[in-house]
Amino acid sequence: MKVDVIAGLQWGDEGKGKIVDLLSSKYDIIARFQGGPNAGHTIIVNGTKYVLHQIPSGMTREGVMNVIGNSVVLDPIILQKEIKSLEDAGIEVRSRLLVSRRANLILPGHRLLDAIQEKDASGKVGSTLKGIGPTYQDKIGRFGLRVGDLFHPDFKSMYARAMERHRCILKGFGCTDHIDDSAWLEALESLKTLQLVDSEYYINNALKEGKTILAEGAQGTLLDIDFGSYPYVTSSNTISAAVCTGLGISPKKIGKVFGIFKAYATRVGEGPFPTELNDATGENLRKQGHEFGSTTGRPRRTGWLDLKALEYACMLNGVDELFMMKIDVMNELDEVKIATAYTSKDGSNAEFGDLAFRAEVIPEYASLKGWKKELNSIREYNDLPIEAKDYVSYIEKQVNVPIRIISVGPERNETIFHS
Ligand code: GDP
Ligand code: IMO
Ligand code: MG
Repeated sequence: MKVDVIAGLQWGDEGKGKIVDLLSSKYDIIARFQGGPNAGHTIIVNGTKYVLHQIPSGMTREGVMNVIGNSVVLDPIILQKEIKSLEDAGIEVRSRLLVSRRANLILPGHRLLDAIQEKDASGKVGSTLKGIGPTYQDKIGRFGLRVGDLFHPDFKSMYARAMERHRCILKGFGCTDHIDDSAWLEALESLKTLQLVDSEYYINNALKEGKTILAEGAQGTLLDIDFGSYPYVTSSNTISAAVCTGLGISPKKIGKVFGIFKAYATRVGEGPFPTELNDATGENLRKQGHEFGSTTGRPRRTGWLDLKALEYACMLNGVDELFMMKIDVMNELDEVKIATAYTSKDGSNAEFGDLAFRAEVIPEYASLKGWKKELNSIREYNDLPIEAKDYVSYIEKQVNVPIRIISVGPERNETIFHS
């Protein structure tokens, strides 16, 4: 058996939560391989909405196991709250949640450091303020504390040293605020009662036993630390290759890669966005698509679908099948545009990459006719209006990857399978 992957192909919020929940009926195990509570994955089942930050999106499907992998960064307070709200909704969590002992902990100082770094106008990336960057900095710097360390006889002194380091750095930034860690320490006690595992053994053994596994990404390709619009990115690798290091499997164990994208584009936070619309059409997409951050509530920036960016993301992830989300959001538009090429300011053709990231490219658009029809109740591909089918075919042709799922609403069943 191999591990299939759900990879976000844009700047996050593509609809990973909905799709993982939908596909979880076919998998035994859902495993998160990177990121932390910067993620906000929305699932709507029979009108009930769940927004998950730390817990994988297989939790809303009875019988499915959920793994928080080794490359995830974990905030014990957020995890505890999330478990409680799921339990309050009648979902059995504890027997179905496994946490890697190697996952790094987000410490109280990390959040403060994130906030301080974001206050510096020149260093602002518009982070989610969850402490993600500083936690990954400490991981790479080998200063981090991991879930497994909670049981180390010297944990207290290890934690005291980490806090002291953070106080020194914060002082360097002129911040001498008291770090209140009482809620954090309390949440550790709850974390210790969860099922902690060496997830690399758990995952590899499960594969040997013939179990089906889906790896759930957070963020998206254009926020990848190496291949995204650096420095306006998150602090982890978000592409499919990160599944290997994020769960402890060999590249030979990667199965199908499913690439998920919205029928248009959004971005939350700072950084270049070549097809951004700062006009009434952009406002319409934001309104119709409820484009407000699931984690921070910030309005998402909106724009046309960018096929250069999509091709780039398909290349990096090795996408086998595409899933297109939120096509229903464009129901009212007379005209739908797609960026098909870039020209650099000196007039030559350009690829998506550093030029686009420095906003030195002018997108060229193809214009297609809008469908002007409500799509939410459609369940069969053949019932889609011809203009919507043209939109799907246009993308498939340019990117040269088939679109297998077309999502026409946030609910599980508002989905068209396209063979
Ligand atoms: P994620 O971070 O990739 O899981 O995506 P988010 O949950 O942050 O954002 C996606 C938003 O779009 C959520 O509010 C979903 O409920 C919603 N959504 C997902 N698929 C569709 C769809 O096909 N149509 C509409 N209208 N909304 C959708
Ligand atoms: P999901 O999993 C959209 C963005 C932030 C900011 C940048 C760095 O829901 O798709 P960070 O807090 O990670 O240091 O912020 O990345 N960002 C996201 N944008 N969806 C997300 O997650 C994101 N996680 C981080 O807005 O621009
Ligand atoms: Mg999200």
